[in-house]
Amino acid sequence: MAKMMSASTSITQPPPISVRTIPGGYGWPVLGPISDRLNYFWFQGPETFFRKRIEKSKSTVFRTNVPPTFPLFTGVNPNVIAVLDVKSFSHLFDMDVVEKKDTLVGDFMPSVSFTGGMRVCAYLDTSEPKHSKIKGFAMDILRRSSATWVPTLLSKLDSMWSTIDSKFNSSSSANYLVPLQQCLFGFLAQCFVGADPAASPNIADHGYAMIDLWLGLMLLPTVKIGFLQPLEEIFLHSFAYPSLLVSGGYNKLAKFVEEEGWEVVERGQREFGLTRDEAVHNVLFVLGFNAFGGFSIFFPSLLGTLGSDTTIQESLRAEVRAKGGSTLSFDSIKDMELVQSFVYETLRLNPPVPTQYGRARKDFLLSSHDSVFEIKKGELLCGYQPLVMRDPKVFDEPEKFIFDRFTKEKGSELLRYLYWSNGPQTGSPSESNKQCPAKDYVPLTASLFVAHLLRRYDSITCNSSGSITALVKAK
Ligand code: HEM
Repeated sequence: MAKMMSASTSITQPPPISVRTIPGGYGWPVLGPISDRLNYFWFQGPETFFRKRIEKSKSTVFRTNVPPTFPLFTGVNPNVIAVLDVKSFSHLFDMDVVEKKDTLVGDFMPSVSFTGGMRVCAYLDTSEPKHSKIKGFAMDILRRSSATWVPTLLSKLDSMWSTIDSKFNSSSSANYLVPLQQCLFGFLAQCFVGADPAASPNIADHGYAMIDLWLGLMLLPTVKIGFLQPLEEIFLHSFAYPSLLVSGGYNKLAKFVEEEGWEVVERGQREFGLTRDEAVHNVLFVLGFNAFGGFSIFFPSLLGTLGSDTTIQESLRAEVRAKGGSTLSFDSIKDMELVQSFVYETLRLNPPVPTQYGRARKDFLLSSHDSVFEIKKGELLCGYQPLVMRDPKVFDEPEKFIFDRFTKEKGSELLRYLYWSNGPQTGSPSESNKQCPAKDYVPLTASLFVAHLLRRYDSITCNSSGSITALVKAK
C-alpha cells in the first residue's frame, strides 16, 4: 500500500523544474537504424533491447530506433522516443498532446490494400470525424451483442473442450491452438456479424486460418518471429509483402460479413453514417484484427500460466465452484475476485499488444518518475508495455506473477496502472479517446473462459508449446 501510495503521489506531483536532455540517440544514418534493428529482432529481442538502453542511459525515457528499417522501408522513419515507466507511458493516453493518426504499429503502416483500400478505425486519430462514427459503431456492436455474448461463448467452449477431450482418447497430449482459434472465430462471428459461420462451410473450416495469414503478412515487418536467423532478417523483415498474397481469403471474409451480416452493415450505414464498404471493412477489422487477434494471443498465455501452476488452480477452482451458480454469467463472474485478479495479472505481465505509439501534436513537457523532458511536435513516442507494467515504483515484486495482486482495496487501486487496453483499467473508452472499446469485455470474457474450464475439469497441465498434457475431468 505504502509503495502504491507513494507512486500515485509521485504521479500527481508537479514536475521538477529543470528539463533534462533526452538521453540515447539514433546513431549514424543507415548504420544506426540497422544496428538497432538487428539488436531488436535478433541479438537481444525487444525486451532486452529496451532494458539495456534503460540501464545505459539511466533513464526510462530515451531516443532509439525501432524497426522496420533499411533496405526497403525507405519511407519509414525509425527514430522514436521510448517511454518505459508508468508515468511517461501515460502521456500516450492524453489526446491533447498525442496524435494517433496511422501510428498503430509505429511510423510504418501496412498498405491500405490489406483493409479494403481504407484506413480503418484503429488508424484514425480522434481529430478525424470518421473516428467517432466508427468507434461509436464498434461500441454499439459490443453493446448489442452483450445479450448473446455469454451463452454463445459457453456453447462454443463446450464444443472446443469436447474436441480436445476426444483427442485424449487416442493420444497422451492435445494441441489446443487450432481448436481454440476455431472456437474464437465462431464465437466472434456469431456475436459481431450475427451469423454462424457453419452456414458457409469454407468460412467455418478455414476462416480462422485466413485471418491468421492476413494478420501475419500485415504485421510481419514489426514482429519478432523467432525463425532461423539471418533468414528471418533477410526474408521476413527487409520488405513488406504485398496484400495480393492474402487477398483471396480476405475477400471471402469480407463477402461473408457483407452477406451474412447485412443487418449490422445496414445499421452502420443508417445509424453511423458510414458507407457500405466502410461498415464491412471495419466490422471485419474489429472481428479479425482487434478481437480475434487479441484473444488468440491472450488466451494461450492464460492457459499456459494456469496449466503450469496447481496452487493457482486450486484457489481459483474453489472460488469458481463456490460462486458460479447454476449457469455462468457476467454477474456471477463479477463476484469472482480471484479469477478476475488472475486475469488482470496475466494482462499485466503479458500484455497481448505489447507496443503503443503516439506522435506529439505540439511541443510539450513529458514527465517520467524522476525527470522532465522536452518533446517537439512531430516526434514519435514508443511505449513497450511489458516493461512499463513491471515498473518497480508502482508494482511490488514487479517481475513476479502474484495471482491475487489485484484483490482487495489495494488491488483495485492498482487497476489505475493496468494499461493493456491503451488506457487505465479504470478509464472509459469513448469516441474522444483511443482506448479499446472492449476494455471491460476482454477481462470478463477471459474470466468466463477460466471459470468454465475450472468447472469442467479438476485440473489441467499445459506445456509451453501450446499442448495440454493432462486433463482431469471434474468428479
Ligand atoms: C484480448 C483482446 C484485445 C486486446 C488485447 C485489445 C487491445 C487493444 C489496444 C491495445 C488498442 C489500442 C491500440 C493503439 O491505438 O495503440 C485497441 C484498440 C481497439 N480495439 Fe481492442 N483489444 C482486444 C479486443 C477487442 C475487441 C473484442 C474489440 C471489439 C469491439 C476491440 C476493438 C478495438 C477497437 C475498435 C480499437 C480502436 C479504438 C480507437 O480507435 O479508438 N478490441 N485494442
